[in-house]
Amino acid sequence: MNFKKLNLPEHVGIIMDGNGRWAIKRGLTRIVGHKMGVEAVKKTINYAIEIGLKVLTLFAFSTENWKRDKKEIDGIFKIVEEYLETDFDEYNNKGIKIRTMGDIIKLPKKIYDKLLECVNQTCNNKGLVVNIAINYGSRDELIRAVNNLIIQGKKSVEIEDLKNNLYSEGLPDPDLIIRTSGEMRLSNFMLFQSAYSEFYFTKTYWPSFNTKSFYKALKEYSKRDRRFGGNHKKI
Ligand code: FPP
Repeated sequence: MNFKKLNLPEHVGIIMDGNGRWAIKRGLTRIVGHKMGVEAVKKTINYAIEIGLKVLTLFAFSTENWKRDKKEIDGIFKIVEEYLETDFDEYNNKGIKIRTMGDIIKLPKKIYDKLLECVNQTCNNKGLVVNIAINYGSRDELIRAVNNLIIQGKKSVEIEDLKNNLYSEGLPDPDLIIRTSGEMRLSNFMLFQSAYSEFYFTKTYWPSFNTKSFYKALKEYSKRDRRFGGNHKKI
């Protein structure tokens, strides 16, 4: 797994899907699946640091996930909050900068406070940016950006105006978007930012995603010929 030979992305976005199915297949509860999902997050972050990735965006909870049972929703928030509580010092020491993407004010106060604390305490860190998409929906983000621009009194807008009003303001667009569990759709994830992203789909359920799986995705990405609408390099 020599990643040094690969042409690596700067920004990877991951749609971490399949926690529930991973658990049900093993006769476990969906919550156990989410707990094991956190273990996969830890491995992914460590590998992202090792390869020198600049930004890792993790889709933790969508604006549509409120349709789930309250018990599961509360469970997910509790798991994320506990994870941030226990691993925060280690991440801060490693120079990780935590950012969020989404309407976090609508989250329960405990997790909202924890997220804000992590963002504020790591804002000057210079290492890997871990961008947590939580209560995030791309359509919601675009509508919010347009409303911000209206409030600012804009009569017409440029691409940069829109970019500067997205949650991802200041971040490069994702070079690679990975989705686990075999589903092949974006599910309202970074619709604007993914205009020229490369996509990688794997059948692996998120809790089984490990360093080897990440390397495989990076190797596949490394082979892609990115033209951004320009000429074909290889002809
Ligand atoms: C998708 O699996 C997963 C989620 C909606 C929650 C993701 C949350 C975590 C992995 C927790 C950790 C996150 C961070 C950022 C620390 P699913 O429940 O949709 O699975 P299914 O499609 O098999 O039902």
